Amino acid sequence: MTIDSAVQRKIMGQFATGVTVVSTQLKNGETWGMTANAVTSLSLDPPLVLLAVVRDSQSHRQFSEENCFALNILAADQQQLSDRFAYAGPKDFSGLEVTSATTGAPILKGVLGWVDCRIKEILPGGDHDIFIGEIVAGESGEGEPLLFFGGKYASINLNPSE
Ligand SMILES: Cc1cc2nc3c(=O)[nH]c(=O)nc-3n(C[C@H](O)[C@H](O)[C@H](O)COP(=O)(O)O)c2cc1C
Repeated sequence: MTIDSAVQRKIMGQFATGVTVVSTQLKNGETWGMTANAVTSLSLDPPLVLLAVVRDSQSHRQFSEENCFALNILAADQQQLSDRFAYAGPKDFSGLEVTSATTGAPILKGVLGWVDCRIKEILPGGDHDIFIGEIVAGESGEGEPLLFFGGKYASINLNPSE
């Protein structure tokens, strides 16, 4: 049986995820970002993460050409950042406060955590490719996460008694 893609999307939408902005610095000094939730921690030794990227997207070309990316883990109040980097075309960092990670990738102010990675391998995954990144730097913060669930943004209440 081949599952209908709308059905697959609906089923897998029940799997709640966080939301990241994947960033990199281009050779011309410009910055690039893409909203992504197909992200997971893969290995501790060596320290690896996994990111699935649509094969025929501009982001695929930019991350693979630079051979690195950073995952910015968004906080509950950063939904506008997710929306801002979820569309095809030029990625606009204007007006955003950023710092620069080891690879030069921009790290957005106020994120819950970030990891900066060099790409170790790119594996085929249907209409996506799987980017395996080796973590070269990272930091965690505190706060509540932005979630994606059932095709919509969601949040969790960490203090249900309040
Ligand atoms: C919540 C959310 C999660 C997304 N996750 C991914 C993802 O994991 N991988 C991906 O390739 N695109 C993902 N997208 C879509 C990309 O953000 C979007 O297609 C991309 O920015 C298109 O730009 P480009 O064609 O210029 O690369 C996601 C979008 C949203 C709103």
